[in-house]
Amino acid sequence: MKPRFFSVPSKQLANDAWQARGDGRQGPRLAIVGLGMMGQEHLRVALLLGRVRIQGVYDQHPASLEQAQRGYYALTQNPLAIYPSLDALCLDENVDAYLIATPNFTHSAIFERLMKTDKPIFLEKPMATSLTDAQRMVTMAEACPTFVQLGMQYRFKAQYVDAFHAIRVEQALGTVHTVAMSEYRPPFLNKVGEWNKFNDYSGGTLVEKCCHYFDLINLAVDAVPVKVYAQGGRAVNFLDFEHEGMRSDIDDHAFVTITYDNGTLAHFTLNMFAQELYEELVVTGDKGRLVASESSSFRPEVESSARIQVEVAAHPSYYGTLVTYPSAIEVSGHSGATFFEHLAFVAQLEGHRVDAATPAQGFKSLLVASAAQHSLATGLPVLMDEFCAQERVTWPT
Ligand SMILES: NC(=O)c1ccc[n+]([C@@H]2O[C@H](COP(=O)([O-])OP(=O)(O)OC[C@H]3O[C@@H](n4cnc5c(N)ncnc54)[C@H](O)[C@@H]3O)[C@@H](O)[C@H]2O)c1
Repeated sequence: MKPRFFSVPSKQLANDAWQARGDGRQGPRLAIVGLGMMGQEHLRVALLLGRVRIQGVYDQHPASLEQAQRGYYALTQNPLAIYPSLDALCLDENVDAYLIATPNFTHSAIFERLMKTDKPIFLEKPMATSLTDAQRMVTMAEACPTFVQLGMQYRFKAQYVDAFHAIRVEQALGTVHTVAMSEYRPPFLNKVGEWNKFNDYSGGTLVEKCCHYFDLINLAVDAVPVKVYAQGGRAVNFLDFEHEGMRSDIDDHAFVTITYDNGTLAHFTLNMFAQELYEELVVTGDKGRLVASESSSFRPEVESSARIQVEVAAHPSYYGTLVTYPSAIEVSGHSGATFFEHLAFVAQLEGHRVDAATPAQGFKSLLVASAAQHSLATGLPVLMDEFCAQERVTWPT
């Protein structure tokens, strides 16, 4: 397989990927930093894919390490190697690549330490909580001899693989003019140290959660945003929540509009006080409309369901097609997307080009998210030129 990912429909991608699994005894040796909810999902998925070996892990929190050890042992009957410090992890010459899954506010320092090793890095989204840190990280990544992959894994959900196949590869919609994306979901989950309840630690809700969606919107439009306007705030969630004497300040709903320099208009809706998860991408071009949607649940007994509809004359998905990945992939994490971002990481380690997010693309999603967060705070539209000048950053070319 010579992967790019959007070049094939999700069903074929799933079939090829399942055939390409390994037994975890060969392949590059991976070290993971941060073994909370997402780090443990990465550990499980790396084992399911079996194309890398787990060299060791590092976390500051004993309970996270204990859970990860138990999970690893249950799947491999082997003990999980634990480094006593980040330095010890960096000094292990047997490591071939790193994966960072620590809270957002810790990304830049850990990334900069690991970058000194000149080894490939997978970095969870959002890349940082400060735009200047993030731009510096892009510059470092572009100067390094190897690659950095950003964890914008929603690109690999089945409905979006098929959406980008239709939009970018088939060019089924013609010229794209409007994009509308929405997410309805329950409130943020518990985290170690509750970092996701505070803007300073997470970057704000539109950064922490919605950088995924701004990445998808940027990909669908493929132009430069010139104006961002957001309305929203705190209506229901964590209104009285306190942790270590600090009061939660995160938003739980927003409407965001984005104007791009080619005239394309985009809209994003966030609501975080729904019972179940539902997300939808609607893209309309001069030839027709595409709708990609997913229903899922935090309740493990409820299976997720992904669908795509391409209302363009003679398109095979005109009346809608269910595209949900096979259950073994789907349940492995985030509706199967984590599995495919691992496959993309392995493919990059093997020298293939993939459709995973680059640091520049991760930065673009962060920039739109930060502008939206700024607009929420001021109540005013944000002109991107002025915002970038004020933040001393530039839109990557
Ligand atoms: N791609 C996705 O869809 C997705 C989903 C969830 C979370 N994430 C991202 O993954 C990251 C982790 O989120 P999470 O949900 O696992 O959080 P979490 O709080 O469950 O886990 C974070 C872990 O990092 C550890 N940690 C904190 N500081 C550390 C440090 N300096 N060195 C080593 N370990 C440290 C904590 O002890 C904890 O075990 C965040 O950036 C988050 O945005 C991405």
